[in-house]
Amino acid sequence: MSKQILCLPGDGIGPEIVVEALKVLDVVKSQFDLDIEVSEGLVGGASLDAHGVPLTDEVLAVAKKSDGILFGAVGGPKWDDQPMMNRPERGLLKLRSEMGLFANLRPAMLFPQLAEASSLKHELVAGLDILIVRELTGGIYFGEPRGVRTLENGEREGYNSYVYRESEIKRIAKVAFEAAQKRGGRLTSVDKSNVLEVTALWRELVTEMGAADYSDVELSHMYVDNAAMQLVRAPKQFDVMVTGNMFGDILSDCAAMLTGSIGMLPSASLNEANQGMYEPVHGSAPDIAGQGKANPLAQILSLAMLLRYSLGEIEAADAIEKAVSDVLDQGLRTGDIASEGCTQVGTTEMGDAVVKCL
Ligand code: NAI
Ligand code: MG
Repeated sequence: MSKQILCLPGDGIGPEIVVEALKVLDVVKSQFDLDIEVSEGLVGGASLDAHGVPLTDEVLAVAKKSDGILFGAVGGPKWDDQPMMNRPERGLLKLRSEMGLFANLRPAMLFPQLAEASSLKHELVAGLDILIVRELTGGIYFGEPRGVRTLENGEREGYNSYVYRESEIKRIAKVAFEAAQKRGGRLTSVDKSNVLEVTALWRELVTEMGAADYSDVELSHMYVDNAAMQLVRAPKQFDVMVTGNMFGDILSDCAAMLTGSIGMLPSASLNEANQGMYEPVHGSAPDIAGQGKANPLAQILSLAMLLRYSLGEIEAADAIEKAVSDVLDQGLRTGDIASEGCTQVGTTEMGDAVVKCL
C-alpha cells in the first residue's frame, strides 16, 4: 500500500520552502522507487483566512491517517490581533496534542562547510552531529497541580508539578535508544537525579532498559547543569541525548545555536504509531516572505527525517542529506548563510541545486 504524506505549508516562507522540498521528494520517489502519495492542506493563518480556524477537523482527520506530515511554518503579523485560542500557532499545538506527538527529535548538525557560522571555535563544531530527543507532552509543563495560590499570611505562591509516569519515561527512552542504534550507537540520558525524585526514577528506568534491551548502545548519564556546560565546551562528545520536556527545551535551543544557522535545522515530533510531523526549527520569517530569499534546506532536511523515521527509507534520506552537503560544497549559499567567496542564491535556485545533485 502506498504511504501517505500530508503537506501543510502554512504561512510566510512556509509555502515557498515546502515547494522546494516537494521537488526533492519527486526526484527521490523515482530514484528509489518509493510508493508515496502526497496531499496538501491548510494550516495556521492560511486556514484562518479560508475557514476561520487555524486547523479544520477535516485536515486533522487526514493528518491522523497520514504516515508523515511535512509542516512548513505558521504565523505572521497579519494574525497578531487574533484572540489567543484562534492564533495560527494553535493549529500546530492542536496537531501535536491530538496526534500524541510525545517525542521531539531535534538534530543539531553543522555541515563542515558552515563552521564559520558558529559562535564557537571551528575545531569544536566542524562536523557536529547531535540528536536531542526531548519528551514533549509531559513533565513540568503539563504536571498537575499547578497555579498561583495565596497563603494564610497573604503572600502569593506559584507552583508547578514535575511528574513523569513509568510508561512515559519508557516510551521516550525507547525512541532515543532506537535512534542511537540508527546513528553512532551512543546515548546520554540527562537528568537531575541528585535532587529530583522524578528524574531519579528516570535514571533507574533508562539504566534498566539499556541493560535489558539495548546492550549494543553505549549508555551514559549526565546531570543537566553539566550537560549544558559540556554542550558549549566539547559538543562533539555527544551522539544522542535524551531528556524530559523542560531540560530538553533549553538544551535543544542551546545545541541548535551551536550551528549558528537557523535556516538549516530540521525537527521531528513522533507518536507511538511512529507517525510524525516534520518541520524546520525556524518560523514563518515574515520579514523575508515573498522575496524568494528563504533558505529551503531546513525544510528539505525535514523531508529527509520524515523518510528516515516515519517511512524507514534510510537510503533516500541519506541521499538527500548528501545532496545538501554537495550544494554547500559547490559554494551555494542563501542570504542567511552567506559568506565571502560563495555564490549567493535564492530559494528556487537552492532547491534546483539539491535536485541536480540528486
Ligand atoms: P523566525 O524563525 O520566523 O525568524 C527569525 C529570523 O530568522 C528572521 O530574521 C528570519 O528572516 C530568519 N529566518 C528564519 N528562517 C529562515 C530561513 N529559512 N531562511 C532565511 N532566514 C530565515 O522567528 P520569528 O521572527 O520570531 O517569528 C516569525 C513568525 O513565525 C511569528 O509569527 C512566530 O509566531 C512564527 N513562528 C512559527 C513557528 C512554527 O511554525 N513552528 C516557530 C517559530 C516562530
Ligand atoms: Mg524552546
